[in-house]
Formats: sequence, structure tokens, C-alpha cells
Amino acid sequence: MSILHRLSALPIRHKILLSIIGTSLIVVLLSTAVYLTVGWVGLKNKAVDEIETTANMFAQNVSAALSFGDVSAAGDLLLSLKALTELERACVYDKNAGGVLFASYTPAAKGLQCPKELAAVPEDLAGSLLHREKVFVGQDQLGTVVLQRSTDDLQGAMGLSVLVAVGMVLVSSLIAFLLTSFFRRLIEQPITQLVATTQRVSEESDFGLRAEKFANDEIGTLFDSFNGMLAQIQSRDLALSLAHDELKQQVTEVEEANAALNTTLKQLRETQEQLVNQEKMASLGGLVAGVAHEINTPIGVGVTAASTLHAATEDMSASYEAGRLTDSGLRKYVQTAIQSAGILLNNLNRAANLIHSFKQVAVDQTSSELRQFDLHNYLEEILLSLLPKLKKTNISVELNVPDNLLMQSFPGAFSQIITNLLMNSLVHAYPDTKEGTIRIDVDQEGEQIALHYRDDGVGMDRAALDKVFDPFFTTRRGDGGSGLGMHIVYNLVTQQLRGRIRMDSKPGEGVHVTLQIPQKLSMEEVA
Ligand SMILES: Nc1ncnc2c1ncn2[C@@H]1O[C@H](COP(=O)(O)OP(=O)(O)O)[C@@H](O)[C@H]1O
Ligand SMILES: [Mg+2]
Repeated sequence: MSILHRLSALPIRHKILLSIIGTSLIVVLLSTAVYLTVGWVGLKNKAVDEIETTANMFAQNVSAALSFGDVSAAGDLLLSLKALTELERACVYDKNAGGVLFASYTPAAKGLQCPKELAAVPEDLAGSLLHREKVFVGQDQLGTVVLQRSTDDLQGAMGLSVLVAVGMVLVSSLIAFLLTSFFRRLIEQPITQLVATTQRVSEESDFGLRAEKFANDEIGTLFDSFNGMLAQIQSRDLALSLAHDELKQQVTEVEEANAALNTTLKQLRETQEQLVNQEKMASLGGLVAGVAHEINTPIGVGVTAASTLHAATEDMSASYEAGRLTDSGLRKYVQTAIQSAGILLNNLNRAANLIHSFKQVAVDQTSSELRQFDLHNYLEEILLSLLPKLKKTNISVELNVPDNLLMQSFPGAFSQIITNLLMNSLVHAYPDTKEGTIRIDVDQEGEQIALHYRDDGVGMDRAALDKVFDPFFTTRRGDGGSGLGMHIVYNLVTQQLRGRIRMDSKPGEGVHVTLQIPQKLSMEEVA
């Protein structure tokens, strides 16, 4: 981890402490360094000045002794330098004698000697100040004076300064530390408080909490902003929870409405089923009425014939008992009897035939049995059962079906489909008891048969055609229409007969219903 990283990970109070103490330490250290340097340079300059002045004066004084070669005079002069406590050595060199030592003074305590020649005197010496001063008389140089002084006294003086400086550093650090602790509290306390509040807010999700402001500085502004933010969140939270409650309420309402709708839908389905069954029963009822009406005629004629026969026989019997039976009377009776019996036989046969075909259609309409049947014959039987309805109109039916077309299917469904289509034509297609023709054409197409049912009535518009298979769609509501007929036809074709149905029509052009139905259904298919 880099130093910067480590620093930024420190708590704020350490950062404050570090920055203030660091700054003050650097400032104190820098100023101390300047103070010490300036002090040292001053001391040294003073010492240099001193030794230069001394050397200069001594050179003037010693010039006479040098020019006369008076060593002892020079020695006396040298002794006058004794007062300089820091002097380590004072050496006088004679230039004319080739720079050899002329006279010297060396305090025993310092333990130093003068080199024998000027050339051997070092240029510079650590720990000491060395000064050379040339000795002149007029323009002539006679020799050189060398003075050497130790700098121990200067270092001693500097030591004290360093001590003072260290003291200053320590004292100022202490002050900085104390000041920092004081100011730190001013900054750190509010921030710590703010942090604690934010933690509580996030832990308890309580946006009603507020941070307590300390002062009107930037941190104070931060507190205000933070509190403002909390207030905003609180009001939004409230609005949100209100909206949530409302939504929940709405969902409950929708769910209740949904449940109610489902119940209604179920009831509607049940009602629809009931109505479909009623419609089926109604068509069966129509069949029964037709049967009754149709059979009424032959039976009625039969009854008349039988009662005629009965009356004629009674007459004949009475004449015979009375012995009045004549030849012509017997002949007349026999004629009447043959005629009546013929009528009776004819009409009973007709009734029996009618009952036979009605029975089959009626049984098929109520049961849904898969069986083999001849389509041509079966369609004829169905039409026969509908004859009573047709008779009252000017509408004829043409049947065009190949002979010996054997089907294996549900004849009951065929019967219901044809009945419904035909009844629709009678009820809807010819409103003014007009003349009309209904045609039923059947073609075999591979394993399918195509049944085309056409009438030439009023036809239907697009809107009606689109809805014709919908349950309860009728244009004659309140006039006996249930709107279930074509729905039942659709279901019978597509579900029971596994076929397809389409209806084409235009206003004024009659209708054309096309059924496409498998000729043979297997038991497995319908299971
Ligand atoms: N052959 C047709 N000619 C004209 N309109 C018809 C014919 N067949 C059916 N329709 C129309 O289709 C509607 C729906 O027929 P259907 O489902 O049998 O109901 P419903 O006969 O009870 O009205 C009828 O109301 C009628 O408007
Ligand atoms: Mg109908």
C-alpha cells in the first residue's frame, strides 16, 4: 500500500493531527535551521574578523623585528598574543631567508608546533581558523605571519543554540498538539455525530431522524442539507407507502371483481350449456310435432275408412238378418269394403313408413352413436321428417347426393346440422313467404365428403357473417331466435364430425355453407 493510500485510510482526527503537527514541525524546523545557520555564520565571521585584525596589527608590529633579524624582539611581541585564549599557534616566517620559521608562539595546552617552513603550513584546517598575513615594510615583503585559532568556543556557543532550538521544537510541537486537540474537537465532533446519524438512518430506515447542528459553518450547511434530504426522503417514503396501500386496496378490489366475474362467467357457461341443450330438445320437439302432424293425416283417413266400413258392414248385417239382403246390396257392400280396406291399408302403410324414418332420426338426434349409414338415404329421411315444415312454404329442396355413399360417422349430428340449416333458411332467408330453392350437393373428395348447402334467400352482410358462429348471435332476438343454432352446427362439425365449416354470403345472394367432413371415422379417433 502506498503512503497516500495509508494516509487516506486514517481517521479524520489523525489526518487533522498529522497535518497540523506536520506543518508546525516543518515550519519550526525550517526556522530553527535558518536561525542556527545565521548564528553560526555570524559567530564565524566575528572570529575571522578578530583573527584578521589581530594578524594585521601583529604584522605591523613584527615588521621591525623581521627587518633587523631580531628573533627575541619577535618572541616578546608574540607573547603579547597570550591573551587570545583560543590561539593555537602563531608563526612568523622570514621571506628573505627562504620562508623558514623565524619566531613562534605555541601555547603548551594546545600541543601544536609551527611547521619549519611556510610552504608546509596547510591551506585550511578543519576545526580551526587559519590566517596568513604578509609583513611589509614600505613596498617590500619581509615575511608572513600565520595565526591559527581553534573554533571550539564557537561550537560551544552553537551547542547552546541547538539546545534552545530543540527546546523550541518540542515546545511548539506540544502547543501544536494541544491546539489541534482543541480544534479537532470542533471539526470532528459534528462529523462523528453526522456519521452516527447516517448509520442509524440506514440501519433503522427511520427517515424521521435529524442530525443536531453545532455551528453555522460549512459543516453546519452540510447538516442542513443532510436534514433537508432526510425530510425529502421521509415525505417521499410517506407518499410511496400511501400509494402502496392504495395499490394494495385496488389489487384487492380487482381480485374481488375478478372472483365475481369468474362466478358470473361460470354461471353464464352453465346457462349456455342449458340453452344449447334446450335448443337441441326444441328441435327434437319440432320433430315430434312434425311426426304427430304428418301421421295425423293417414291415421285420420284410416279412421274415416274404418268407420265407413264399420257402418256399411252393420247395414249389410241388419239387411241379412231381416232377409232383405238383395244382390245389388251385397255387391255394393263388397265394393265399399274393398275400397275402405284399400284406403285403410294404404294409410296404415304410410303411417308405418313415416314412423320408421322418424324413429331413426329421433334416436340419432338424441344419441350420439357412431355407425355406418348411406348418406343419400339418410338425408332423404331427414328431409322427410322436415316435410311438414316445408309444406307450409313455397320452398322446394333439391338433393343431389351420389348413391351408395357409405359413411361411418355420427348420423345424429348430420340430422341436427341439416335441420338447423334448413330451419334457418325457413326462418331467416325468406321473410315474405317468397318462393325459393334450397340445394344440397354432396361430392366425394378422397377420404372426405364436401357438403354444399345453398339457399337463394336474402343472404347476410359482412358483420352478421363474422359473428354467425358466435353463441347468442341472432338478428331475431325476442322473436324466437336464441342465436345458438349456428353455434351448435359449428361445434358438431368441428368436434363430433372432425370436419371444417365455412359460410359465404352476400346480402341478396343467399347463403352457401360448405362442410368438409371425413367419410369414415374410426372408433379410436373418436374415443
Ligand atoms: N340462411 C340464412 N339466411 C339469412 N340469414 C341467416 C341464415 N342462417 C342464419 N342467418 C343469420 O344468422 C343468425 C344466427 O343464426 P342462428 O345461430 O341459427 O340463430 P337464430 O336462428 O336463433 O337467430 C340469424 O339470426 C340470422 O340473422
Ligand atoms: Mg337458427
